[in-house]
Amino acid sequence: MPTSVRVRVPAKINLSLAVGPLRDDGFHELATVYQALSLFDTVEIADRADGAGVRLTVGGGEARSVPEDHTNLAWRAAEAAAEAFNRSADLDISITKGIPVAGGMAGGSADAAAVLVGCAAMWGGGDRTDLAAIGARLGSDVPFSLVGGTAVGSGRGENVAPAMTKGRFHWVLALSEGHLATPKVYAEIDRLRAGELVPAPMIAKSVLQAVRGGDAAALGRALVNDLQPAALSLMPTLGMLLELGPEHGALGSIVSGSGPTCAFLVADEEAAMELTLALSSSGLCRTVRRATGPVPGATVLLG
Ligand code: C5P
Repeated sequence: MPTSVRVRVPAKINLSLAVGPLRDDGFHELATVYQALSLFDTVEIADRADGAGVRLTVGGGEARSVPEDHTNLAWRAAEAAAEAFNRSADLDISITKGIPVAGGMAGGSADAAAVLVGCAAMWGGGDRTDLAAIGARLGSDVPFSLVGGTAVGSGRGENVAPAMTKGRFHWVLALSEGHLATPKVYAEIDRLRAGELVPAPMIAKSVLQAVRGGDAAALGRALVNDLQPAALSLMPTLGMLLELGPEHGALGSIVSGSGPTCAFLVADEEAAMELTLALSSSGLCRTVRRATGPVPGATVLLG
């Protein structure tokens, strides 16, 4: 067994996100289709076995705003893995951020998933089902970060089933200035829907059909996010950003998860370049990135 590993883990977006009623446990029932995109964090983990506990450093990208203590989900993942594997969490964890921070692209969940996969590789055992169960306790998106690809999520998002896809989809991601805290966005959707009878969430069949057929135009039309009105209500400038999509050839434009990153689906690499230029010069976002999906979930890198 190796005593150190390097794990690569992707960002995610929600191709569809239906938000049901608020549950008694404070979460909302979801029906979502996730897709993992080619923006990656790299997580290096070394087992020191010296009794000194977790040591965490974060570098790359926008690392400055990421905590390096026990409030980081990766730290908590290390402790949860150690408990499950009956080991001590004497781990050096070094995260290199390539996933936008606090953007609604599951960067924190991705790092937690990477730690779980890394610990399983070092310590042996722990199949993906076990890891998903540990991951689900850490955060709703962690089980998806383990599997990646395109998948249907239910429950609070933690029950994941792979979905068939054909081909590769091209995305442009616009990272907005400012921050939207996930709990606040969920609270805002409750406020906007106060007094309404909220139905049980349903998976968008049109999204599944479009990804199965590799039909980007159909997928662009089918993208849907129930959290979008809440994100726009809290950050109205996102509306202007989304409008730039259709003006510059996007097949579909959507707020990613709870935002504030906006995801634009385009036909190909050339369309991605064109939209990237338009978004970059709009003054409405701090960074623009291109990505493709689906890509695999947390993967141990060899060598
Ligand atoms: O599971 P995770 O830590 O990502 O959730 C963060 C917050 O987002 C929760 O505390 C909750 O306020 C909200 N949430 C929710 N319903 C979900 C997932 C998240 O209300 N299904």
